[in-house]
This record gives sequence, structure tokens and C-alpha cells, in this order.
Amino acid sequence: MGMDYKGRMPQLTQTAIWPEIIKSAESLKAQHLRDLFTREARRFEQMSIYVGEVFLDYSRQCLMPQTIELLARCLEQQEFAKKRAALFAGDKVNASEGRPALHTALRSSDSKMPHYKEINASLECALEFAEKLRAKAVIGASGKPITNIIHIGIGGSDLGPQHLTAALGDEWSPNIVFIRNVDAAPIAKAMAQLNPHETMLFIASKTFTTAETMLNANTVLAWLANALGKEKAMQHVVALTAAPDKAKAYGVDDARIFRFWDWVGGRFSVWSSIGLPAMAAMGRKKFTELLRGGEAMDKHFYEAPLLVNMPVVLAMLSIWNINVLGYQARAVLPYCEALREWPSYLQQLEMESLGKSIDCDGKALSYSTAPVVFGMTGTPAQHAFMQALHQGTQIIPAEIIMVKAEHTKLPGHHAMLNANGLAQAEALQQGRETDDLQKNFSGNRPSSILVLDTLSPFAIGELLALYEHKVFTESVFWNLNPFDQWGVELGKTLATPIQNALETDDVANGAAASLIKRLRNL
Ligand code: F6P
Repeated sequence: MGMDYKGRMPQLTQTAIWPEIIKSAESLKAQHLRDLFTREARRFEQMSIYVGEVFLDYSRQCLMPQTIELLARCLEQQEFAKKRAALFAGDKVNASEGRPALHTALRSSDSKMPHYKEINASLECALEFAEKLRAKAVIGASGKPITNIIHIGIGGSDLGPQHLTAALGDEWSPNIVFIRNVDAAPIAKAMAQLNPHETMLFIASKTFTTAETMLNANTVLAWLANALGKEKAMQHVVALTAAPDKAKAYGVDDARIFRFWDWVGGRFSVWSSIGLPAMAAMGRKKFTELLRGGEAMDKHFYEAPLLVNMPVVLAMLSIWNINVLGYQARAVLPYCEALREWPSYLQQLEMESLGKSIDCDGKALSYSTAPVVFGMTGTPAQHAFMQALHQGTQIIPAEIIMVKAEHTKLPGHHAMLNANGLAQAEALQQGRETDDLQKNFSGNRPSSILVLDTLSPFAIGELLALYEHKVFTESVFWNLNPFDQWGVELGKTLATPIQNALETDDVANGAAASLIKRLRNL
């Protein structure tokens, strides 16, 4: 296929299987995806998987079913089954932080799962409160029902709830304003538009220390206090956190602290009380179905043979594209406006989990890990950056998501939406040869298609868990810890003295001094 794939995984070349994988790439080199489709009549059947309400077609990836087999054998050699069992059992798989990563327990209906009782007690409190908000039965300090929520959080405390609210929120939802950025503009806008007497502040922070979140919370709290008085303002504050003591010290009433635990990673936390705005947006029934969808994918991931195991196959495709073919980016394209937040959500899940260059044994990695994940809904993406995917010099695999069932009745739209999604995959795969090179499409560019039967909470739950497990599987293959994020710390540390310099005349000498002076107009 004309790609340079050699030497990208030196460690794994030492296994007996790796040379076979390279051989498989060699044998595909001269073949165009078009030819593979002509030659292999059963390619679609062999390279698709259906789990619950989610269908994966990976027949347009530049590999053969046998390639997945080889990659899966490599994965087995990394003690995958043992590591997966350790994840579900609550072993301390997050070694650098000395704790488990038990997000699967949050959606388990198995009473033998670790922490089952406390998880369900906390979930029940959150769902009950969400239902009250939907019924306008939460009454503010001035006797008015709460109709607005300002949800303040960042990273995992924002992206998950925001994605689910966009995907599954309904007409009973309170008005929810998500504030993630420390830029004051969105807060100023919310404060100008909302009535503080009818507004509740959700402070969503696992640690309850994140600087941006705490400053945003203080600003909104001051606005509430200005209208209601300090004491009454606190009656409008809700905390979603794994640090209940800190929330209490902040003045949040015990009854309005919805807790989760430090063994839930931020980017895996939407199933916990961090999901409260999403619960309010979609209601108890749908949130419970979402959990069941996640649980169904957990079961599939645990039990299905590797070659028909959807998260494992997605992970193998990723390894193949990154480490064998050398493709360093992936475009995520939901053909569904309700899934508009999915690319951002996935970006954190994948890039914060897998963007590492040290392995579990503390050794520097000699191969590529996390690709750059980016995306936008189709069809808008087609009119923005898809040019580069079709004719650019870099090959960027695409991941297209479509929904089978129509969710509006307006004629023509759904068919056009899905037709465009499929047309992109076809164009990437087949290309079109012309004598006019400007208009030539080489094709042979990989894509996968995921089809959700409906835009149901169950399917969305499956989708979330699917990618969590894909990420975990890649981490096993690459021997890295997907549950820590030390790479975000240095920037946080450096921000404090720079802020100090920007706010005072105390501009120390250093690389940033000139720019600080410019920002301060000194
Ligand atoms: O700084 C990165 C990070 O820790 C993410 O992993 C996390 O989702 C986000 O910040 C928010 O953290 P918290 O929920 O503790 O405010």
C-alpha cells in the first residue's frame, strides 16, 4: 500500500508474531482497498461486529481479517486476559496513583461487584434529585422553583455531562448552562440572562481544587449572594465531588453533596454523580438505560472472543494504523447533531489516557502511542477539513458514526445525512482516478463505520463503554498506565507565578518575562 511502516514498534518486533504482522503489511502493500473488496466477497461479513444496538463495519480498513488475528495474539502475549480481570476486580491498576479504576462498577447490576451498595445509594440520591429538578420541585431560597442550572466543571467534570445532555436531553430538562472555561465571558452572559432566584450552581470537581473551576464557582456564588444574601446563596449550591470534606469546608450543605470516589478517573466519571446534569436532562429511566448499555458492553468486553470483541478490534485497528502504517491522527465524524460533543469527549478519553511516553515499568517508550483525535459532525466537517482526508499528504483514518433510525420526521434530512456519511467512506476507500491530477482521488484511505440502531440511551451507554475499553486494550498493548495524567501538572504549576506576575508588578526575569510585560503593557 506504499506506506512506510518499518521499525515503529521495536520492542514488539522481538516477539515471534511481530515479523508476521510486518509480513502481512508487506503483502498488502501493492493492493488497493478497491481490489480487496473485489477479491474478498465476504469482506463485509468477516469484518463487522454487532453488539446490542451498535454495529461496527471495519471492512474499509487497510488490513485483512488475519491481520487482526495476529495482533490479537500479540495482545494475548501482553497478559491481556489477566490485566482485564484485574481491572474489573478492582485491583490497583492505576499504579502511579496507587488505586483501582473501577468505572465498570458504576454501571454494574451485579451485587457482588466491589462498592455495590455505596454506588447505588449515591446513584439513587442523584437520580431522585434529578427527577425533582425535572418536576420543578426543587425550591430556591426565595420560594421560587429552580429552572436553571449553571454547571461548572472542566475536563471529565464537563465533557461527559455535556455530551450526554446534548445527546439525550429532553423537553423536561431544566435549562443547563455549562461553564468550562475560566474566560469570564460565558459566565457574564449567563449572569446577564438568568434569574439568580431560579438558578442552582453545580460545582463539579473530583478534587474540589481545580483552579479554573473554583474561580468560576466563586464568581457565580458571589452573583447568587448579591441577589439572595450569602447564607441563602449557599442553599443554591450543589457539589459533585470525590472530596466531600472540601465541599463541606466550602460551605455546601451535606444534603447537596453528591459524592463519588477517588477510584473513578475524571474522564471515566460520567456514570457517577458527575453525571447529575445529564440525569436532570434525560431523567431516571433514560439514565438507567444508559447504565445498562454500558454494562452490556462491559460483559461483551469481558466475555467475547478477541476476534469478535468490539473494543479489542477497535484497539487493534488503532495499533495497526499507528504503529504499523504510521498514521498519527484519527478523525471522528458523527453524522448526528446530537453527538456533536462526542469528538471532544473522545479526545480527552484517548489523549489524556494514552498520551504517554513512559511504560508501566518506568522505561521510555520507543513507539508511538496516542494519535491526535479530532473531529466534528458531518456534514459540516465535509465543508471544513475533509479535503485533507481525501487529498492531503497525510493519511488520516476516519471514524464515521451514523444512526439508523430517524429521530425527526422532517422529510429528506435523515437520508441525506446518512448518504453523506457513507459517501465519505466510499470516496476515501475507492478514490477516483482522472487524468487531471488536481481532481484525482487516490483512495485507499481507511475508515470505520459505527451504526447505532437508534439514538437510545442504551446505545450511547454502549458507545461510551466501548471506547473506554478500547483505550484500556491499547494501554495493555503499549504497556502504559491509561489512568493517570501527570502531563497536565507542569502547566498548572507554572500558571500560578505567571498569574501573580500579570496581576502585580512582580515580573521576574525569565523566558516569559518579555511577553508578560507586553500583556501588562509595561
Ligand atoms: O487536569 C486534568 C484533570 O485532572 C482531568 O483529568 C480532570 O478530568 C480535570 O482535570 C478536572 O478535574 P476535577 O474534576 O478534579 O476538577
